Amino acid sequence: MNSTGSKWLLSLLLLAVVAAADAQLYESFYAAKCPQGPAKVAEVVKSWIAKDRTLAPALLRLHFHDCFVRGCDASVLLNGATSEKEAPPNKGSLRGFNVIDDIKAKVEALCPGVISCSDILALAGRDAIVAMGGTNWSVPLGRRDGVLSLASEANADLPSPFSTFASLVSNFGKKGLSTSDLVVLSGSHTVGLAHCAVMQPRLYNFSSTVKTDPALDPTFATALKKLCKQGDVATLIKMDQSKAVDTWDPNYYSNVLRGRSLFTSDDQLKRNPAGVKVVQQMNKAPSPFNKAFGDAMVKMGKIGVLTGTNGQIRKKCFVKN
Ligand code: HEM
Ligand SMILES: *[C@@H]1O[C@H](CO)[C@@H](O)[C@H](O)[C@H]1NC(C)=O
Ligand SMILES: *[C@@H]1O[C@H](CO)[C@@H](O)[C@H](O)[C@H]1NC(C)=O
Repeated sequence: MNSTGSKWLLSLLLLAVVAAADAQLYESFYAAKCPQGPAKVAEVVKSWIAKDRTLAPALLRLHFHDCFVRGCDASVLLNGATSEKEAPPNKGSLRGFNVIDDIKAKVEALCPGVISCSDILALAGRDAIVAMGGTNWSVPLGRRDGVLSLASEANADLPSPFSTFASLVSNFGKKGLSTSDLVVLSGSHTVGLAHCAVMQPRLYNFSSTVKTDPALDPTFATALKKLCKQGDVATLIKMDQSKAVDTWDPNYYSNVLRGRSLFTSDDQLKRNPAGVKVVQQMNKAPSPFNKAFGDAMVKMGKIGVLTGTNGQIRKKCFVKN
């Protein structure tokens, strides 16, 4: 076959694969086997968020870190000396595992062996943002759980907060996500907490000649230095410093434009014409952020999913069957 012919065949095959993955995840997946399951997930999430709203961003992030490593297969939840949990981007940083275990126990009590941990992560992330008063989106279901979790893969596949625009685009591209998806999903950083550890280089050790990252608004940098003293790696600070109480909104984008976002990876989104275009779109009033975010979450939730007879339905989320 000539090269044009084989390119055609390849695109057709790719289309077929994408279509198959699409056909296998759907919102009513549990309608027959565990009709009350998804509502039970929402109920348990709601009760936890009522006690501690900061768990909402944590649950959303669990789903993201699951999907980017080995696909959305709940590999992030598996315990083990060299599992994803132990990798530096996750260890001491991911939160909400106890909430997932509680949800799983209650869903197992309802319908044993039916609802996967990977679907629980997808539902809990959505239900958590809804419970904190944020946006809602549909969650196609039918993922199954993997049996392998490797810290080395988490280190390789999770984006670093010190990344350049090009490396972020490449990192998301490897997962089938576009530049627009990158900018829209980064909008998650409108909620949640970060450790002062991540801020240390930007505030105190930017380069051999400049101590503080000049990309930071100077007033903002001064305020951050009060919250994160030199050498402090433990304190948790709000990702969106523009409000007293965390709310789901498009503030992130105005923070990025004003040099008031925490990470280099946030700031980098405006350092490229394609990136800044989406940042500015999201920053418009009324903002298309919520709709775009839901669409991008559905896309992210389909990365490398196990369906049909692949994988398993774990009985406990932290250990394979
Ligand atoms: C674009 C690349 C991204 C980078 C480099 C990045 C990096 C980070 C870092 C370093 C933290 C703070 C962790 C800590 O200090 O404990 C964080 C928090 C968070 N990230 Fe991202 N992130 C990215 C994209 C995303 C995406 C795509 C989502 C969700 C779809 C997301 C959701 C969150 C949330 C909700 C938090 C707060 C977690 C909490 O409060 O416990 N991030 N991120
Ligand atoms: C969120 O959206 C889903 C899918 O459209 C819907 O089934 C669900 O009832 C919504 N939840 C809330 C709390 O509005
Ligand atoms: C600051 O960064 C330099 C390299 O850029 C490194 O050698 C030095 O140890 C760092 N200092 C601190 C206090 O982290």
